[in-house]
Amino acid sequence: MNENIINQVVIQLKLEFANESTGHDWFHIERVWKTSKYIAQKEGGDLFVVELAALLHDIADHKFVENADVVAEMRIKKILSDLKVDEGVIEKVSHIVRLCSFKGNTEVNKMDVLEGLIIQDADRLDAIGAIGIARTFAFGGKFGNLLYHPDIKPTKFSSAKEYRDKRTHTINHFYEKLLLLKDLMNTQTGKKLALKRHVFMEKFLNQFYDEWNAKSELSLESE
Ligand code: ADP
Ligand code: NI
Repeated sequence: MNENIINQVVIQLKLEFANESTGHDWFHIERVWKTSKYIAQKEGGDLFVVELAALLHDIADHKFVENADVVAEMRIKKILSDLKVDEGVIEKVSHIVRLCSFKGNTEVNKMDVLEGLIIQDADRLDAIGAIGIARTFAFGGKFGNLLYHPDIKPTKFSSAKEYRDKRTHTINHFYEKLLLLKDLMNTQTGKKLALKRHVFMEKFLNQFYDEWNAKSELSLESE
């Protein structure tokens, strides 16, 4: 029964998000779903709620949809009540999705249920490491941002609106979000997974600056 509901949600989302190109395509959703299941196996939580909330966590993105919280809640209610999901489960999924998003680290994290803490970790893990780097440059390209500009420094955002509206170069996004995520992980399993991806990003940045400053070429020539 629950498996059937999950399959139906998967079919709908695959169709809707197939061509999304701001980092929330179906494969992002699928990775968050799988990672959430993995973390839940280690940390506990109601697996049905975890799977549904993971699948629906990006149903309305606050960066692109006006009144995203309201739109998300309406869409979740419609999709899940059409599939005859229990009212209590729908409430819990809506609650988790509402509290899930990063919003420039401008607000205290209000997530208060284990299933939500798990999904937040899985979503954040997909924003770091090799995949996180790829998504970040894909996002920057879509919005016509420079890869890097040495004179434009990272910002500490004072509101979710500022985070949403600010257009800067893509390397800044590492300092404004990606490198902060390892310390914002909620679960022990999330922390462990984040560390490896964090170290990889640091290596990437070092190499990036070396190439930018032509250091690697210079050191090759002196060998
Ligand atoms: P999430 O799916 O974790 O909620 P977001 O909606 O914040 O992530 O962003 C989707 C993807 O786009 C993520 O990989 C994120 O790091 C990236 N992204 C968001 N804002 C920017 C930005 N200003 N510059 C580059 N990448 C960004
Ligand atoms: Ni997401």
